Amino acid sequence: MDAPVPAGRLQRFSRGFRFLVDGLATGLAAWFVLLACLACLVPVVSLPLLPRAARAARALTALERARVARHLQVRVPAPPAVPATARAVLADAAVRRDAAFLLVHAVVGTLAGVVAVSSPIGAVQNVVLALTWPLFPAATTTLNTPVQSWPQAGVALLLAAAYAALGPLVVPPLARWHLRTSAALLAPPRESLVERLAEVTATRAAALDAHATELRRIERDLHDGIQNRMVAVVVHLGAAERALRRDPVAALPFVLTAHSAADQALADLRAVVRSIYPPVLADRGLAEAVSGLAAHSSVPCTVRTGALPRIPAAVEAAAYAAVAEGLTNAAKHSGARRVDVHLGVRGGRLVVEVSDDGGGGAQEARGTGLSGIRRRVQALDGTVQLHSPAGGPTLLRIAVPVPG
Ligand SMILES: Nc1ncnc2c1ncn2[C@@H]1O[C@H](COP(=O)(O)OP(=O)(O)O)[C@@H](O)[C@H]1O
Ligand SMILES: [Mg+2]
Repeated sequence: MDAPVPAGRLQRFSRGFRFLVDGLATGLAAWFVLLACLACLVPVVSLPLLPRAARAARALTALERARVARHLQVRVPAPPAVPATARAVLADAAVRRDAAFLLVHAVVGTLAGVVAVSSPIGAVQNVVLALTWPLFPAATTTLNTPVQSWPQAGVALLLAAAYAALGPLVVPPLARWHLRTSAALLAPPRESLVERLAEVTATRAAALDAHATELRRIERDLHDGIQNRMVAVVVHLGAAERALRRDPVAALPFVLTAHSAADQALADLRAVVRSIYPPVLADRGLAEAVSGLAAHSSVPCTVRTGALPRIPAAVEAAAYAAVAEGLTNAAKHSGARRVDVHLGVRGGRLVVEVSDDGGGGAQEARGTGLSGIRRRVQALDGTVQLHSPAGGPTLLRIAVPVPG
């Protein structure tokens, strides 16, 4: 009796087989996605559809990345989000890498998958043929040898055994090779990792800086405003106490002053709390909170909002602060007759735009508001753009990554 096939080998075969068969499916899908991308490139009218095709390519690549990561039990880092415009897509290195990967996968994945499935199919087909040849006079084996007698049927059976034996021999190394090449092609290039690391280190430093600045601002607000007012409350209450001992009627003005100082302290405290995370955001969400800002703007303001997913609180607070700064600037510096605010999520980023039709000429270096927004946004890995030529108009645009 033959020695039993070790379980390890069978397991390796079935794992490799599954990987290659799934790869056959995604390899065929890769052909469709690549054709779609090409179709977008050829006629200029369909060029605006390119970002959508690139996102489909990214989704398929992400599927492959997850599959490779699962089989290798490693994390394959994902590239940054696909840009929103066709021009940016064409210039994007990560999109080009997606396309290169899909091209290789369309050919290699499909061929490797066909090789993998040919083992069981060849085995089954030849066995069926060896048993049913009298029903098919023109039957031939998968290697094209005729099966018209029982000895020839024996040959078909041997062939089936060869297919069955070759599968476990060929499939696992083929799967391993395909897995490694896919992993190498899917991993982000080393330079981009180095760049990314430098960027992360810088934004992390900016985050710490922004955090420290924010703490200092809160500490200053508490110290200069509220603490001073509370000191006044204590002083006036002390005076009231002393007055009470002598002449209760003379104590009244001190109590009233202490009362008004306590009221002021409370109002200051509310303002500080609101500046940390405006409660209107928690109560009504970003879109409505921004509409509230627009309603109170002294320059007429319209707000357009796309569908917003759940956005992290820090990002919401930064976006809200950016809109508040943009509206205040438009009212204070621009002489604009109208302001437009736009909120939306595009390509994995929350994009906030505040534009006014005023005189322009905004310069970050001349004030503290815009540079504060930039620090806050950069700390969240976002970007700030300010277009404000002399004569206007002015556009303030922030974009902050949000989890998909
Ligand atoms: N929308 C705008 N239109 C015209 N000028 C602007 C606008 N926003 C800002 N500026 C100019 O840019 C400078 C910097 O703005 P900002 O950083 O917000 O500082 P500030 O604290 O003075 O508001 C302002 O002092 C102003 O001169
Ligand atoms: Mg300002």
